[in-house]
Amino acid sequence: MVTPDEAIDAIRGTGGAQPGSRALHAKGTLYRGTFTATPEASGLSRAKHLDGSTVPALIRFSNGSGNPKQRDGLPGVRGMAVKLSLPDGSTTDVSAQTARLFVSSTPDGFVDLLKAMRPGPTAPLRMAKYFLTHPRLLGALPILREANKVPASYATIEYHGLHAFRWIAADGSARFVRYHWVPEAAGKAVQGQGFDGPDFLTDELNARLAGGPVRFDLRAQIAGPDDSTVDPSAPWRSSQLVTAGTLEITGLDAEREHGGDIVVFDPMRVTDGIEPSDDPVLRFRSLAYSASVKLRTGVDRGPEAPHI
Ligand code: HEM
Repeated sequence: MVTPDEAIDAIRGTGGAQPGSRALHAKGTLYRGTFTATPEASGLSRAKHLDGSTVPALIRFSNGSGNPKQRDGLPGVRGMAVKLSLPDGSTTDVSAQTARLFVSSTPDGFVDLLKAMRPGPTAPLRMAKYFLTHPRLLGALPILREANKVPASYATIEYHGLHAFRWIAADGSARFVRYHWVPEAAGKAVQGQGFDGPDFLTDELNARLAGGPVRFDLRAQIAGPDDSTVDPSAPWRSSQLVTAGTLEITGLDAEREHGGDIVVFDPMRVTDGIEPSDDPVLRFRSLAYSASVKLRTGVDRGPEAPHI
């Protein structure tokens, strides 16, 4: 299997993995808020942040590119990473982005795609070869194209968690779910603002927040019998969606990532009542994120990293 350093090298080949920045999703902004779960969620998982009490949340909206100076007006996936605080002082993360499906079922497939994408005269040939050897990706192209569209606002688009997690209830019953963040606000950018600068998505969100909180519902899609729990590139048939809670974003975070503070949103950071699936992409992400943290901060994550 590909190593995290090979993944970072392949990301570097596409212009990402720049020193001092996240290897991907390099440009982003941290926000504060709260999350409150619904009784439906409490019935499906015994996780403490799903017991219905309001918990603090740290949110990072990001541009998927590895270029920390990427203009917001360029196409590409956008990220929404959420860290929820638990009563015992620990945290659990929900990492999501605008694509409904991941481009590959394995870390190796993703790294091969990054290598094929490396800019240069042979890039079209490499990409053609990649599509020929990964024909399923062709079918996913409309979904990926949609996810890469430049949005009017971070606050009006859906973000998807892609991996399956096993929710275990207080009575021991269990089911696999996929996460979706669904915005309360629809459509356009807030009125009366000329948002066309390189950071217009952050500018728009800040202006929107000046008028009140921005909300997203967390929807848990419950796996049906034929839905893959290990392949984030495979769509799910199940239409069973439960509103698990509401995230209320209130404003910019001014505290984190200053003076050596390191924030990592790691989807493997689960808590009692939630287990990661055996999705190889999910498990690899933790390792790749540690390599990225080392690159951007010079620090080994050590015990901070979830146990894989
Ligand atoms: C093998 C597959 C993947 C690799 C190698 C990879 C790599 C990376 C790396 C290196 C970072 C920077 C981490 C940091 O420095 O903290 C990152 C960030 C991120 N990735 Fe991935 N990623 C993968 C799959 C995914 C998937 C499937 C999603 C879908 C939810 C995703 C969503 C995100 C988001 C939202 C961020 C930004 C987190 C933040 O704001 O701190 N990634 N990715």
